[in-house]
Amino acid sequence: MTSKSDIYPVPASYAAHSLLNEDGYIEMYNRSIQDPDAFWREQAQRIDWIEPFTQVKDVSFAKDDLHIRWFADGKLNVAANCLDRHLEKHADDTAILWVGDEPGTSREISYRELHRDVCRFANGLKSLGVNKGDVVTIYMPMVPEAAVAMLACARIGAVHSVVFAGFSPEALAGRMDDGQSRTLITANAGRRGGRSVMLKQNVDKAVALCRETTVENVVVFNYTDDTTDWNPAIDRDYAELVAAQSDDCPAEVMGAEDPLFILYTSGSTGKPKGVLHTSGGYITYASLTHEYVFDYRRGERYWCAADIGWITGHSYILYGPLANGATTVMYEGVPHYPDVTRVAQIIDDHQINILYIAPTAIRALMAEGDKPVAGASLESLRLLGTVGEPINPEAWKWYYRTFGRSQCPIVDTWWQTETGAAMLTPLPGATALKPGSATRPFFGVQPALVDNEGHILDGATEGNLVLLGSWPGQMRTVFGDHQRFAETYFSTFENMYFTGDGARRDEDGYYWITGRVDDVLNVSGHRMGTAELESALVAHEAVAEAAVVGYPHDIKGQGIYVYVTLNSGVEPSEDMRKALRDWLRAEIGPIATPDVIQWAPGLPKTRSGKIMRRILRKVAADECDQLGDTSTLADPGVVDHLVANRAAAT
Ligand code: WTA
Repeated sequence: MTSKSDIYPVPASYAAHSLLNEDGYIEMYNRSIQDPDAFWREQAQRIDWIEPFTQVKDVSFAKDDLHIRWFADGKLNVAANCLDRHLEKHADDTAILWVGDEPGTSREISYRELHRDVCRFANGLKSLGVNKGDVVTIYMPMVPEAAVAMLACARIGAVHSVVFAGFSPEALAGRMDDGQSRTLITANAGRRGGRSVMLKQNVDKAVALCRETTVENVVVFNYTDDTTDWNPAIDRDYAELVAAQSDDCPAEVMGAEDPLFILYTSGSTGKPKGVLHTSGGYITYASLTHEYVFDYRRGERYWCAADIGWITGHSYILYGPLANGATTVMYEGVPHYPDVTRVAQIIDDHQINILYIAPTAIRALMAEGDKPVAGASLESLRLLGTVGEPINPEAWKWYYRTFGRSQCPIVDTWWQTETGAAMLTPLPGATALKPGSATRPFFGVQPALVDNEGHILDGATEGNLVLLGSWPGQMRTVFGDHQRFAETYFSTFENMYFTGDGARRDEDGYYWITGRVDDVLNVSGHRMGTAELESALVAHEAVAEAAVVGYPHDIKGQGIYVYVTLNSGVEPSEDMRKALRDWLRAEIGPIATPDVIQWAPGLPKTRSGKIMRRILRKVAADECDQLGDTSTLADPGVVDHLVANRAAAT
């Protein structure tokens, strides 16, 4: 429980000058719940509709009749909402302020320029035969051309599928196959932390690995001096492709429910799912939340330090801010290059007003004491935000005191790839803050806590976090597998969307996310399914069986703890450990590198053969004195061995 001293009231300047104060929030929130149709009809007017919608929503969460439609008969183009409509009055405002990996490198791109680049590239895609509805995969570093590629797809009605550039060729091929994607946009290499990341090499391997699709075009942005192989049959040079194109590309008229993008994310079972977002509801919700959560005022420089390969990058580097005519900062590098003062340096150099960053980055900087802000002014900052994982109060307070100079509110935003944009969040002028709490629901969001039988719990309590009713930014389906959509999110509890998270609600109605209650890990803000890691491990010739769990990690939030049973005849060794680490990096990507590998001659199983993960989690967390009831184990001796050998593994 928080004590009173842990409440940070709304600063007077915010209460007076923000879009909303406390009463305003309550009034607007209540209206959004009492009359959602009227509320959303009104909010959707922030979007330029080519043809207005008549019906606001048509939704059923029933698992046999699952459908989610918003503004369905309206017509619009998302890219035109992010670009064209700003040209009349704000063409020369900076749309993207790009900050390069090397200190001193940056680029400002105006709305006029971005519009031109997007039109040219969109025409380029058309010239390659890309049509409305085609899935285009984007595997790009953090350069403005990545944003251009995404918006160009949106402009012509192609569906982008951005794959994080840290994923391996295997992972990239899997996503291309699933999306039946025949077009890929990449760069020869990217720059991060002073080094080149050889993206095109990965692409060449991925193209060879694709089984369900034939890649026809690989558009390569030659960004660095690094040389790459060139396959004239499919490789196209980005610069050549756009050079020949006209600046004029009419925006495709899209239905509100036409797909805008697919983004793959991990769940507790199976392969990553293609989360599908559509056009009208997504852009309405991304834009509305961006304005209210960040209390955004035109002209401000807003920096979301995520990667474009994750949903945070989609909604809060690209779509939300650009729909609002904001100046969005896109940073190519990492927070600690060339040293830990980099984030503060960027803020001072570019006079940034709003900083939105993951707790894992905050904790990594905090480990350096006050060095990350030493000598920095930071006076331009007026608001801070976090996203992606629970933030521990200690890190919150450090962030508040150092970057925030004890003056800037922190918006701790809870949401998911599936929700499209922020769901539980403070609003800077309206919400007193409690460190570690994502506080209260955004407009139209109806959170509830339920027990394992699905009964809704009242008052101050803890339970499974569900959402009752739809909101415009909600995912519409799992690409190509609507059944899986229903099973994953709507079958655990009837007529509710199950988030997979647990939460506590306090006596003020504030929500505190306690973390995933399913077998999903959150490692440095990256989502990973334990099943995905396990199936990659057992695919290794030396491995008989594997189980993966998370354990508390000071900086990453969760670390990856792997238990491996080797095939008989294979001896555990440091070389084998390294081989398995490398294997996971190659199969999934560096983010899947295990922190601990423990050799386990056997795994704790029930008599029916189910692995008892609860026990594995306790051993990993070094809570061997709290193993609980082990009487249902088939062979209790297995646990003794795990406990005895824990130290040797860590
Ligand atoms: C976790 C990222 C606590 C949560 C936008 C969720 C958080 C998962 C927060 C989604 C937060 C995200 N506090 N936990 N403010 N934000 N999470 O899909 O477990 O990459 O289910 O979306 O991250 O991760 P995803």
